[in-house]
Amino acid sequence: MPLRLRPPLYGLAPVLLTLLAVPLGAPTCPMLCTCYFPPPTVSCQANNFSSVPRVLPHNAQRLFLQNNLIGTLRAGMFGPSLVTLWLYSNNISSIQSGTFRHLQALEELDLGDNRNLRTLDPDTFHGLERLQSLHLYRCQLSSLPNTIFRNLFSLQYLYLQENNLLCLQDDLFVDLANLSHLFLHGNKIWQLSENVFRGLSGLDRLLLHRNRLHTIPTWAFRDLRKLTILYLFNNSLTTLSGETLSNLPSLEFLRLNNNPWACDCRARSLWIWFQHTRVSISDVICASPAERKGRDMRYLKGTVFQDCPPTNHQPVGFDWGCRPEWENGAVHPHPNGSSNHLYGLGGSPPADPSSFYRDVPANEIRSPKYDPPTEDDYWGSYGSEEGGQLKKGCSGPGCTSLDSGAIRIGFLSLPLPCLLMLLGPSWF
Ligand SMILES: *[C@@H]1O[C@H](CO)[C@@H](O)[C@H](O)[C@H]1NC(C)=O
Ligand SMILES: *[C@@H]1O[C@H](CO)[C@@H](O)[C@H](O)[C@H]1NC(C)=O
Ligand SMILES: *[C@@H]1O[C@H](CO)[C@@H](O)[C@H](O)[C@H]1NC(C)=O
Ligand SMILES: *[C@@H]1O[C@H](CO)[C@@H](O)[C@H](O)[C@H]1NC(C)=O
Ligand SMILES: *[C@@H]1O[C@H](CO)[C@@H](O)[C@H](O)[C@H]1NC(C)=O
Repeated sequence: MPLRLRPPLYGLAPVLLTLLAVPLGAPTCPMLCTCYFPPPTVSCQANNFSSVPRVLPHNAQRLFLQNNLIGTLRAGMFGPSLVTLWLYSNNISSIQSGTFRHLQALEELDLGDNRNLRTLDPDTFHGLERLQSLHLYRCQLSSLPNTIFRNLFSLQYLYLQENNLLCLQDDLFVDLANLSHLFLHGNKIWQLSENVFRGLSGLDRLLLHRNRLHTIPTWAFRDLRKLTILYLFNNSLTTLSGETLSNLPSLEFLRLNNNPWACDCRARSLWIWFQHTRVSISDVICASPAERKGRDMRYLKGTVFQDCPPTNHQPVGFDWGCRPEWENGAVHPHPNGSSNHLYGLGGSPPADPSSFYRDVPANEIRSPKYDPPTEDDYWGSYGSEEGGQLKKGCSGPGCTSLDSGAIRIGFLSLPLPCLLMLLGPSWF
């Protein structure tokens, strides 16, 4: 690795010698990428790459490939040292089986915003036993294979928002006892099966807003003993059983606004739950019957329900199931009897990734990662609960020590361009 020092820079030699402590013979930094450490990092973002660079330094722990045009991921592309792998905002449409299989150190995998990613193989994430954070937001996923999250025992953050998911089947998350955040908002989910959340005993936040839920099975939240935040606003819920909510002993914040609530006898158990809970709750505006339209269900007088049958068990709702044939694009009955062809074939048309790419402001393209969404992005402007301010705090691994800021060479204050001039493209 030849290194030419120009006379005025001799003073930097000690620093450079530190840099040269990289083992000789380490693979070179790929063209157009920047390599730095610690930890060993390869940053190739925003280069219009159409594929993953063929030779990557084998000891790299962080690989940043976001904001390119990568279309396919294949087995053998990534080395086993990787801890952090960012592939968001590419054009990934297929992930070959085995691509991530040997990444036993991987803790964070960001595949978000790949708007041609429609399907995932059942074993795509198998073997990622250390994975803590999996980002699959803003893709075009309309269903998930039954075993896709099997054995991901370390997973804490699972981001599935803004896809085209229609239905979530039983036991989809059953191994995720350490999961803290499950974000499912902005999909087309119209149906939850009764055991869909089984196993999520550590879950803290469940976001289901902006979906098409008509009903929630009575026992759907049974395992969620630690859940503190539940968002169900902007769905199509007319009823929700009080029993469903009394299964949530840790609940603190609940948003039910913008649903067409039926404030007749069907609301009785929910109304009773409201009278006894200390949870902070959004408004719950009645859509029917006509004489109660516009009133807040929470503040109805008990006399409204006095003529209701005493043991008014909530209709559980027919279990339409999320059947396996679903995954083969089979047409599924819609609860109101209308046909469901459009949903069945993958939802709305794909966004043109290139137009998306152009929309990203230049300064964001250049930074290794956009700022992770703040709490306010998730909680703000959605109406508010009464009597409570949501906890401020960290919403994910984006706020751990992981340095998501600008390119940084910890122990050097020298501006990066100077360093690159000094060192040439292959100092890693
Ligand atoms: C990537 O492609 C876009 C559109 O063709 C172009 O404007 C941009 O300059 C390219 N970026 C790089 C780093 O080559
Ligand atoms: C993105 O991938 C699709 C195929 O999935 C392809 O048709 C399209 O041309 C790609 N776009 C770019 C900008 O490479
Ligand atoms: C995940 O949770 C289990 C208990 O459910 C625990 O034994 C294990 O240590 C946890 N793993 C991690 C990585 O947190
Ligand atoms: C929720 O729905 C209301 C109307 O039903 C709409 O005005 C509002 O923008 C929606 N909010 C979100 C966050 O989607
Ligand atoms: C069924 O629901 C869809 C959307 O929720 C609606 O557009 C359609 O009119 C409904 N059909 C019937 C028969 O109620």
